[in-house]
Amino acid sequence: MMLHVPEVLSKAQVAQVRAWIDPAPWQEGAATAGPQAILDKQNRQLPPDSEVAQQAGKFLADALAKHPLFVSAALPRHMLAPMFNRYEGGGHYGNHVDNAIQLDGRIGSRVRTDVSTTVFLCEPDEYEGGELIVEDTYGTHEVKLGAGDAIVYPATSLHRVMPVTRGARVASFLWTQSMVRDDWQRHMLFDLDMTILRLRRQLGESADVVSLTSHYHNLLRQWAEL
Ligand code: NI
Repeated sequence: MMLHVPEVLSKAQVAQVRAWIDPAPWQEGAATAGPQAILDKQNRQLPPDSEVAQQAGKFLADALAKHPLFVSAALPRHMLAPMFNRYEGGGHYGNHVDNAIQLDGRIGSRVRTDVSTTVFLCEPDEYEGGELIVEDTYGTHEVKLGAGDAIVYPATSLHRVMPVTRGARVASFLWTQSMVRDDWQRHMLFDLDMTILRLRRQLGESADVVSLTSHYHNLLRQWAEL
C-alpha cells in the first residue's frame, strides 16, 4: 500500500529542520549505498552519526510517531533513524530495492525494513525532476509532494529518484520495522481502521462500531509480532 500522509511537519517545522540541516556538512551519498546501489547513486547526505542529523532525525521521527495516519498505516515496532538527502545538478538514484536488514547503531541490533517513508522538505516548484518512482504490483507510481508531507510505501518495492535538473530536492527518509510484516495484512488493518473512524463519526459508539473495533484488535493480536 502506498499512502500520502499530509502535514507530518508544518511549514514552520520544515523551515526549522532546513535551518538545522542546510548549513551542515553534507557527504556523498555513495558512502552509504550498498554494492548494487552504489553503481547509480548520485546525491548528498548528512552523515548519519552527525549531531545535526540526530537532532533533526529525532524531531522528524517524533512527529511521524504522533501522526495517526502514519501509525495506522505503518504499525511501527521500531523506526530507524531518519536520514537526510539532497539531490541537485542531475543528482539521481537508479532503480533499486533497499536492503532487507539494517543495523540500528543506537540500539546495537538489526531491524527488518518493512515500510519506507520519504518526507519532503522542500516545495515541488523549487526543483525540476526528482520524482520518486515506486513500482509495486499495481504499477508504477510517481510521487512529488509538498514540504512537510510524506509518502509511505512497502520497502519491498523497486524504486528510484529521477534526475534533478533544476534547483535542489531536499528530503528525509526512514525505514520502519512494522509489528505486521505483511504489506497486505497492514493494508487490510489500515482500511478497517479508517472505516471504523468514519462509522464512529456517523454513529458514535454504537454496538456495531464496538464490534468492528474488537475485530480490528483481534486481527492485530493474530498478526502482530513484538
Ligand atoms: Ni532506496
